[in-house]
Amino acid sequence: MKRYIDTHTHLYDADFADDIEDVISRAGNEGVISCIMPGIDMESHRGLMKLASEKPGFTHPATGLHPTSVNASWERELSFVYDNAADKSYVAIGEIGIDGYWSREFIEEQSVVFQKQLELAASLSLPVIIHSREATEEIFAVLDKTRHLGIQGVFHAFSGSPETYKRIRSYGNFLVGIGGVVTYKNSKLPATLAGIPIEHILLETDAPWLTPVPYRGKRNEPSHIPLIAAKIAETKGCSIDEVAEITTENAIKLFRLKI
Ligand code: NI
Repeated sequence: MKRYIDTHTHLYDADFADDIEDVISRAGNEGVISCIMPGIDMESHRGLMKLASEKPGFTHPATGLHPTSVNASWERELSFVYDNAADKSYVAIGEIGIDGYWSREFIEEQSVVFQKQLELAASLSLPVIIHSREATEEIFAVLDKTRHLGIQGVFHAFSGSPETYKRIRSYGNFLVGIGGVVTYKNSKLPATLAGIPIEHILLETDAPWLTPVPYRGKRNEPSHIPLIAAKIAETKGCSIDEVAEITTENAIKLFRLKI
């Protein structure tokens, strides 16, 4: 039986409130053995931790202030992350980063918050989950400043160019999270994947968003992970088994999962 890990899923989102048990059992039926749930902000924190405590082993929580939640009260939000980050159940600091797509109003603050959370991750020896959207140069500017910290992590929802991938690798052991976008008709991602070894790839859904073909337009969920693995296998000319095995191993190693 294939084993997959969905390394980025928001199962605590309100979209799953009515049928979370079904969603989890469907994921299990498809071979998904574990899910990483990144944090967003104080408001969503309680729901995330509740689900993490109800499904230990299957769900693993991360904590972080998401760039789109950086607003006028960012200092309070950031303190909250700092105050509870030492909780041993966290497998990563994330998701953190910079998002220039939704709004650039707090773009300077986003850089500050990103850097502080990278430093926090380094002090706790935790990997990071990076959200980068229309902010590649801003992200790299921060990573240039924290290069000496030896941080590891994943660039979630990677859809960049081969050059961007190369630059990411220059910062150390950073993997790329590949999700439903790879199945989209005009995606350039399959071409980029040709130059990325499977050892540097993690599978992720970003559920409830970024649903892969043929379910695009509907709610996404972890049971769709094999569709992403199949597309990667097709792109790289290898078997789905190989994609499942290697990406699962990558996730276990990066997040130090006890599975
Ligand atoms: Ni996310």
